[in-house]
Amino acid sequence: MEKDNNRGQWGSNFGFLMAAVGSAVGLGNLWGFPYKMGVGGGFAFLLLYLILVVFVGYIMLNTELALGRKTGTGVVGAYRAISTKYTAIGWMGAIAPFLILGFYSMLGGYCMKYAVSNLGDLFNASWGVNSADGGEFFGTFISNQAESSIYTVVFIALTILIVLRGVSKGIEKFTKVAMPALFVMLVIVIIRSVTLPGAIEGLEFMFKPDFSVFQGTGWITVLASAGGQMFFTLSLAMGIMVAYGSYLPKTQDINKNAMIIPIADTVIAIMAGLAIMPAVASAGMEFGAGPGLLFVTLQTVFNGLGIAGPIFGFIFYALVFIAAITSAISLLEGIVSIPVDKKLKETGINQRTKYTWILGILVMIEGVLVSLDGLGTYFPPLFGKFIWLDGFDLVSEGILMPLGAFLTAIVFGWIRKDVLVDEISLSSEFKSKKFYLFCLKYLAPVMMLLVLVGQINSFFGLGWF
Ligand code: PHE
Repeated sequence: MEKDNNRGQWGSNFGFLMAAVGSAVGLGNLWGFPYKMGVGGGFAFLLLYLILVVFVGYIMLNTELALGRKTGTGVVGAYRAISTKYTAIGWMGAIAPFLILGFYSMLGGYCMKYAVSNLGDLFNASWGVNSADGGEFFGTFISNQAESSIYTVVFIALTILIVLRGVSKGIEKFTKVAMPALFVMLVIVIIRSVTLPGAIEGLEFMFKPDFSVFQGTGWITVLASAGGQMFFTLSLAMGIMVAYGSYLPKTQDINKNAMIIPIADTVIAIMAGLAIMPAVASAGMEFGAGPGLLFVTLQTVFNGLGIAGPIFGFIFYALVFIAAITSAISLLEGIVSIPVDKKLKETGINQRTKYTWILGILVMIEGVLVSLDGLGTYFPPLFGKFIWLDGFDLVSEGILMPLGAFLTAIVFGWIRKDVLVDEISLSSEFKSKKFYLFCLKYLAPVMMLLVLVGQINSFFGLGWF
């Protein structure tokens, strides 16, 4: 148990930014964005996405960071501090990351397995991919329940070890090195990818403007897809930006940070597309999203690159691993901060170590259950979903996140308007104050409702539009 009763604070604004961008940049950028952009109208999707980022993402980021710094506590305590009536919104932001962590960790474990296997190929080791067909390699791995569970556990253990060390000595120290490394690795993969023969088709798939997808009710589908992506990728409505904001000194400019984070996140999402899509096109493979893209298609691409394949394979999966673990760290910190801050207030003692272990082990159990399910091979359906990962995703990303964000916008856009504006103005001129309040009041709630309806529609295949 830690003796000091200091909650912890970011050592520098750069450190905070690396942690926050690390949270934002994750699997969502690498496997969601490029494909969604491609099928959602290319440049047309990008435009819509950018509009959403400016009118909703930037607004909600400001709100959550300010709520955290104002109340100086994790998400449940933060909403409770505003009024006990709002505690339930805080709980939504606590349950969602817990659910996401289960499958996120499993996927993080998969990245480790793939990085290790590509490394093995470099030495012709028996534990390498050994040119096995991408699909077969993946199938064999996920049906090996013991192996995939072990990777999940190792991934969570690493996450725990970083969160245990605290805000500046753990999270900040790690992300300050990891995020620039991720950036460099991404540039290396992009250079290889766009210089492959036939790369241009990948670029066309992703960027070619196609406004026809907006026709009829198509725009609702695209809007919901872009909206869902926007706030998953910005780690919103997860209590995370509230917790990260609570470690931000009063002298730092919240408003400026709320602009930089989405810009960095979007740049990396586009870069991820530049790294992935041209390579997929060059190998003559189908574009796709999700685990299939990352673990089947791309491994097949690396297999086809000859001697350089394992090198790029290793660099690529290592960078996806970094993206995943910096997000997992934030998810765990988001939930650990809740009991830590509660106890700190009651007893004056910081019990980070104890709660990181307790919650970390609960997440391990959850992660192992999801891994045993092996993408739907073994267990009966959960929340109506055959694949447990999808069930967890439905409840968290599909329902809790848009609903939580909607309620947050209502509370701070209509009922308690001044609280956060004052907090943001402390360290910033906040010239966009009017714009902020306008968006928070009208645009954000409407958008969140649309996303909610759109997610439910697509998750259940209801075919409403
Ligand atoms: N933002 C991360 C991504 O894009 C995922 C994430 C969601 C992380 C919510 C934390 C909270 O993959």
